[in-house]
Amino acid sequence: MINDKKVLFSGMQATGNLTIGNYLGALKNWITLSDEYECFYSVVDMHSITVRQNPAELRKRARKLLQIYIAAGLDPEKNCIYYQSHVSGHAELAWILNCFTYMGELNRMTQFKDKSAKHADNINAGLFTYPVLMAADILLYQADVVPVGIDQMQHLELTRDLAERFNNIYGDVFTVPEAYIGKVGAKIMSLQDPSKKMSKSDENPNASIYLMDDADTVARKCKRAVTDSEGVILYRDEQPGVKNLLDIYRACTGKSVEEVLKEFEGQGYGVLKTAVTESVNSVLQPLQARVAELEKDKGYVDSIIKNNAEKAQYYSNKTLRKVQKKIGFPERIR
Ligand code: TYM
Repeated sequence: MINDKKVLFSGMQATGNLTIGNYLGALKNWITLSDEYECFYSVVDMHSITVRQNPAELRKRARKLLQIYIAAGLDPEKNCIYYQSHVSGHAELAWILNCFTYMGELNRMTQFKDKSAKHADNINAGLFTYPVLMAADILLYQADVVPVGIDQMQHLELTRDLAERFNNIYGDVFTVPEAYIGKVGAKIMSLQDPSKKMSKSDENPNASIYLMDDADTVARKCKRAVTDSEGVILYRDEQPGVKNLLDIYRACTGKSVEEVLKEFEGQGYGVLKTAVTESVNSVLQPLQARVAELEKDKGYVDSIIKNNAEKAQYYSNKTLRKVQKKIGFPERIR
């Protein structure tokens, strides 16, 4: 607990361009939960370097992502929005947790398997131990809740296992966190292949709607979205493309399945795609306008970066010192 509130932690990688999947699966829920919890939202740039990055590009994307957090509606005075690389405790706790994680556990991680297949020329140790750094992120702030999309569930389960393992040996050191998965939008699929998750790193730009896409691009991508030859708008697994469009629409408008099915009864896919376009643009346009404002306000964003890094450092140090003591590291002399 911090200030009598339970703690929330979540983060996103500053790799590639954020998609509407990242927004609907995670960021949107962050905003809903932000009043109820003491929140830490990290731009997890240390995770990004498990895949080779262009340094200038990484720096630019990290700042953009931090601005997107704010633009989406997270108040940086109330929520701790910061860069992971500015807080040394992440790496320090990750090392300790590495010594409590089994190779077999990491071998089972599907994201590692996928990423090593994609980057066969650079299967580095960081890619392998990535989930341990993620566990450190969460446990460092004693988070109670972690809002993520479904694809992060396996990492969260490992985090819980590590917390419990550590607590069993050393007593109650870590809060065991719960995942928070939103009811709608927890897995937005590719517009070109609805059997695949919409991803920042998809090679086909038509597969993903990016948060920075302009209105015409969104319209074009929705128009080209793969559907089927059934010709009816129903919400069912047999029509994954249509189901995905309905999910995007529901997540953007807050409407229920019943409401949207009623709305589109007897309509063709063209009408659905136009409605999806409008709903997405009504979310993206204000967000983009706010990002543009923040880009001009360098001093303000810099002050947020500085103050929040200090705040994150303060809370993470509390946990880190406790952990170091428990495992037998010598005390610091003041
Ligand atoms: P990342 O950067 O891949 O994605 C950020 C968040 O977006 C969610 N997401 C989706 N949700 C719905 N549909 C999709 N198509 C979709 N694609 C992505 C992800 O589930 C995630 O919530 N390892 C994490 C970053 C991370 C983290 C953490 C998250 C590092 N440390 C600690 C939570 C807590 C990742 O790569 O997310």
